[in-house]
Amino acid sequence: MRKIVAALMLAGLAMAVAPAAQAQQPIVIKFSHVTTPDTPKGKGAEKFKELAEKYTDGKVKVEVYPNSQLYKDKEEMEALQLGAVQMLAPSLAKFGPLGVRAFEVFDLPYIFPNREALRQVTEGEPGKVLLAKLEPKGIKGLAYWDNGFKIMSANSPIHVPKDFRGLKMRIQSSKVLEAQFHALGALPQVMAFSEVYQAMQTGVVDGSENTPSNMYTQKHYEVQKYGLVTRHGYLGYAVIVNKAFWDGLPADIRAKLEKAMAEATDYSNSIAQQENDDALAAMKASGRIALSDPTPEATAEFRKVLEPVYAEMSGRIGQDTIDMVLKATRGVGQ
Ligand code: LMR
Repeated sequence: MRKIVAALMLAGLAMAVAPAAQAQQPIVIKFSHVTTPDTPKGKGAEKFKELAEKYTDGKVKVEVYPNSQLYKDKEEMEALQLGAVQMLAPSLAKFGPLGVRAFEVFDLPYIFPNREALRQVTEGEPGKVLLAKLEPKGIKGLAYWDNGFKIMSANSPIHVPKDFRGLKMRIQSSKVLEAQFHALGALPQVMAFSEVYQAMQTGVVDGSENTPSNMYTQKHYEVQKYGLVTRHGYLGYAVIVNKAFWDGLPADIRAKLEKAMAEATDYSNSIAQQENDDALAAMKASGRIALSDPTPEATAEFRKVLEPVYAEMSGRIGQDTIDMVLKATRGVGQ
């Protein structure tokens, strides 16, 4: 918080000392995020920068701050609401702690059988309904960006649900993810993304779940001995802006930024699957982590053990939201 207030004071000072010069200054969009530049999100952010600056003829300057260099998970949401940064792309799991619990539907185990089913939600009416829930928080949702399906990692062999008993598993701050690991008999530990590598290295946690792209670019595979390609849950993002900032932009500029965002979204979503496939292959090739696929029997067991999470979390997420998502995805691509 202190960091955010200091940033705001500096920005205020700059405006106070240079009012005349300010008229020619470009509009600056600070885009903060927590992954490295070579991830679907990192590449999407760079693409948005390139297109936004091009379409506005430099009237808008986009400063991208990757890899938690400005703020960690929880801080970045506060920074956006306070206006210290203008744009973020937090994972969908990160909206629950903000009080918008319907987003936790994305964290339910096995909710999306594949990407095609996911798109029915993110590109359809359910996606719009969910983004609208952010507005009372001073946040405007612009787009959904893909990452991929999560896998498990640990420092002891993991093949079937019982292998997770007693393991300390890092999670994002989500009650659904907490319930998921409790169902497996594990001990979920909420931790900022940027702290996971060290926690794995020092044994503060035994393992985690994440996408192959995140595990690879954060080098988790260097400090985890085993991985299980469960694809048991989804991790993606909502690109969001400070609503007051966005609504205050000149209409022509906003339209150009919307075009840049639409194209950056198509780009980021078109590379996400490949990025994850490549990351999985690179981790396998590294020889540092033993990655295996669950047997069909193990997958059936994971599904069975995790099924009660739906009923348990129904009151929190809202059964209407769960039903909306299940209805949109029913039978798609199966
Ligand atoms: C995580 O905290 O594991 C992810 O949300 C990181 C990210 O933004 O992909």
